[in-house]
Amino acid sequence: MKINPRLLRFLLTLVLATPLANAQEPQTATPESPEVTWDQVRAVFQKRCFACHRGEQARGGLDLSSVAAIQAGATSGASVVPGKPEESLIYTLPAHLENPKMPPNGNRLPQRELDLIQQWILGGLSEKVLTPASTAMPTRQSAATRPLTRPLTPLLVKPANPATQPALTNTLTPTSDNSDSMDPLRTRPTPVFAKPIRHQKQMITAIATSPVSSLLAVSGHEHVLLYDWSDQSLRNRLEFPEGDVFSLRFSRNGSLLLVGGGKGSESGRVVAFDTTTGERVFETGDESDVVLAADLSPDGRFLALGGPSRVVRLYDTTDGRLISEYRRHTDWILQIAFSHDGLLLASADRFGTVCVSEGQTGQHFMTLRGHTAAVSGLAWTEDSATLFSASHDGSIRARNLHSGNETQQIQPDIGKILTFERDPVGRLVCGSASSKLIILAPNGSPLATASLQDEVSHLQITQDASHVIASDATGNLVIHSMETGAQVTTLDLPLPTTHAF
Ligand code: HEC
Repeated sequence: MKINPRLLRFLLTLVLATPLANAQEPQTATPESPEVTWDQVRAVFQKRCFACHRGEQARGGLDLSSVAAIQAGATSGASVVPGKPEESLIYTLPAHLENPKMPPNGNRLPQRELDLIQQWILGGLSEKVLTPASTAMPTRQSAATRPLTRPLTPLLVKPANPATQPALTNTLTPTSDNSDSMDPLRTRPTPVFAKPIRHQKQMITAIATSPVSSLLAVSGHEHVLLYDWSDQSLRNRLEFPEGDVFSLRFSRNGSLLLVGGGKGSESGRVVAFDTTTGERVFETGDESDVVLAADLSPDGRFLALGGPSRVVRLYDTTDGRLISEYRRHTDWILQIAFSHDGLLLASADRFGTVCVSEGQTGQHFMTLRGHTAAVSGLAWTEDSATLFSASHDGSIRARNLHSGNETQQIQPDIGKILTFERDPVGRLVCGSASSKLIILAPNGSPLATASLQDEVSHLQITQDASHVIASDATGNLVIHSMETGAQVTTLDLPLPTTHAF
């Protein structure tokens, strides 16, 4: 994963702005240092080791997913000696003090992470968990057998607790090594479509796919579930007591998930979650109605949001400051998208108007008219020169932002377009009120069509552009091939219920 240097700086600012942040990054491991808790160490293992050391198939017989499993040791014997890191293989192998070096063929772990492991061993293997969110993370197995029937951990509304900061530290570390190859999500070979686990439908109001991994976010009632779509395992549950979820968007590097929503005519908010740990990283917006659309600039610095209030608000995420608000829309704001270079910001409404503004100031740049009904999707080309918009009026329009001219108008002939995406090679995908899914070549000619069971309400292309994931009005979630349009599988996701089963 390549982290944009500006995002890195921004995240660093956040870490440094937290008074106790230094305590989370022990430079030297002394027994006097604050206690390192299990959730901190688990986050390291999760990122660096779980791909091979979790569950029954763990390599070397070493399961690192719980304190008990670690103490149970590996096939060859004990792998940890409490109080003695230098005699503990779970420290000496990743620190490259002994062979076989861990991860195999990987770089040595960043010093900060090694320090955490070392201190945790020195401290006697604390089982304490300071961040309730991380305990809600079910393992691959418990997702199937024990899907969160009990009330979940207390909600973290404002994590003032400095213990939540390691989440940030973790998102930073990948720059120091080639952690890409160690990310369990990315190293997994071709998707294996697991047998459906169970069947349960509920309204899906938003979905999002990560741009860098096989993570899929699906809205639920006052929460969001994070799945791995390639094997249908539940990865995390993010609580959103702020209300219903209407907008889901991953940051460009996949490290954050923006969740927007709220309570109708009452309040609206956007929360950014760390996709690895499930912790809240920041919260923005103090709307008097729900947030229907939100996006983060590519460098993570700016956040724009909008909804029924018809106002687009632009915030600085480093200090939460409101930079600009503009009232150029005459109807509900349904779509918001920053261009790939971050210079422009497009917002679109239920009336059909698309406004383009300067991404860092919110200053007016251009208004694009033409659609005669609600805009249901926006997509920028990679060079940020052209903006595509799709609408309930059944058309897709492409506008060149230098000339202001419409360069393409496509009528896919499937009726009301309810959802729309464009992939990096320029293919366009639409879902319609007539339950159709259509994949178009860049020139607008149809490549494939498919019929779903109900109105196609949301769709998202996967990070490798191999598949499109769509939800319909009944609550079905399906995966179709981008090549053929054919349905590959139904995602019968293990959605948590309120009653035991
Ligand atoms: C890509 C897969 C992979 C990753 C990632 C990985 N390991 Fe391993 N690990 C292995 C394999 C394979 C073995 C068995 C090696 C052997 O027996 O020679 C092993 C063995 C070990 C052992 C020795 C177990 C014993 O036999 O006593 C320890 C300790 C260990 N790993 C720790 C870690 C830690 C800590 C991490 C994360 C920082 C990690 N490993 C990441 C594959 C991996």
